[in-house]
Amino acid sequence: MAPGALSTQSSKSRKSTPSRVSAVATTIKNCLFNRSISVRPYRVVVRGYRHTYELGDGTKIDDVSCGACVSSLGRVQERVIQAMNKQMRLGLSYVPSLAFDTKAALDLAQFMITSTNGQMSKAIFYCSGSEASEAALKIMIQYHAKEKSCPQPQRTKFIARERSYHGATLGALDLSGHDARKALYEPILPGNMALIPPCYPYRDLQNGQTIEEYVEELKRQLVRKIMELGEDNVAGFIVEPVVGAALGCVAAVPGYLKAMREVCDQYGILLVFDEVMCGMGRTGWLHAWQKDNVVPDIQLVGKGLAAGFQPISAMLIGHKIINAFQQGPSNSAFQHGHTFQNYPLAAAAALAVQKIIEDDGLLENVREKGKLLEKKLKKGLGDHRYVGDIRGEGLFWGIEFVEDKRTKRPFDAKRMVNEEIFQLGLNHGIHVYPGGGTADGKNGDHIIVAPAFDVTTQELTSIVERVTRLVENYFDDLDLKNHQTTP
Ligand SMILES: Cc1ncc(COP(=O)(O)O)c(C=O)c1O
Repeated sequence: MAPGALSTQSSKSRKSTPSRVSAVATTIKNCLFNRSISVRPYRVVVRGYRHTYELGDGTKIDDVSCGACVSSLGRVQERVIQAMNKQMRLGLSYVPSLAFDTKAALDLAQFMITSTNGQMSKAIFYCSGSEASEAALKIMIQYHAKEKSCPQPQRTKFIARERSYHGATLGALDLSGHDARKALYEPILPGNMALIPPCYPYRDLQNGQTIEEYVEELKRQLVRKIMELGEDNVAGFIVEPVVGAALGCVAAVPGYLKAMREVCDQYGILLVFDEVMCGMGRTGWLHAWQKDNVVPDIQLVGKGLAAGFQPISAMLIGHKIINAFQQGPSNSAFQHGHTFQNYPLAAAAALAVQKIIEDDGLLENVREKGKLLEKKLKKGLGDHRYVGDIRGEGLFWGIEFVEDKRTKRPFDAKRMVNEEIFQLGLNHGIHVYPGGGTADGKNGDHIIVAPAFDVTTQELTSIVERVTRLVENYFDDLDLKNHQTTP
């Protein structure tokens, strides 16, 4: 077909359309519906360097949390640009997944499964962590209802943990134990999930209790919840091996994941590990579960998969489910699909990112620099009067703030401590990742420090110095204000 063959426009009107739109665009400012429309002026980033953003006025902001633990290789990676260019030049940015596979998606799936040492069976790619969570919900339902040899369609309940986050879409939000993010939508959430306490030793390990006793207690709580819901009614249990945004880098204690696996096996419940934030190398292991070698039935990854060069997430599916699909009545069709699943351009970017991590030995750097980060953060802030806990793994560290260090009483949520520290950081040229509701779902504050995987010792030293100064400055000011308002 000749170019423009379908057009009935005159050449005059064809030409004038774009310039009219751009003329309007110069008169109407900021049409973007930001997360917070009350924040003015919203900072507009015009360039990214290694681990730094540049604003329109030349201000530089160093990102010490990779945004929301996403940009694990910083902002500029020539090898990723080349891989994406190559994919686009092939004319295969997008293909209809109903008809075709691509080498990019097949290679990425092979990489992912091989990286689990074959302990997972297949991978499927989506755009966001929330989509991966939704897919997990549906595959669990289909597995129990139709695919396994003795179907159990009544298994429609899910168990998740308090103060967890698995995504913003309705199913994923329902699955999350995040009161603040759920409250408004409660009336339209499916409501087929139940919560148990997380593994959170800083707050929940009792005086004199051993880790083994604590794990036994958490195990009992899971069993109790299963019994409450009906032992044949539960489809799956979802856990973040290291809790990210909702708790601020809280790792499962030794033995916990294994204990949860045992309970799930005993009651025929599928175990899901949500590694959207903690996965893809962040903890020093490509998959966080590899530290304890406790294999889930379903694993979700996201943020670090293509490190922000493309939006891509994945659901890795275990052998038990895939075998059931292969032998079940559905002819292997998963009744769930998205236009952009297995999106080739994103897969090419993700594969390039993962190759860089492998070729440059970055997992070793994460482990080595992670130890240094722990040491330096604890030295810099461990004794601070408002720092309750510093915890994490690899390059994934949370600092929890408390009003009373002895009783661990959190600040009142109304004081917005984490948000204020975040904003003060931006004003001082540093981006940390804030979170609230840490202590009880409503009150409690933390920030996350999660540098890029290629961070150097010198950069790390500077990061800790700046985070320490940020926290000290914020609380010195807060004390001063409190002092001035106290009669
Ligand atoms: C553990 C976890 N799961 C799921 C999600 C949802 O991912 P997304 O925001 O990409 O939809 C997030 C996002 O922060 C997350 O941290």
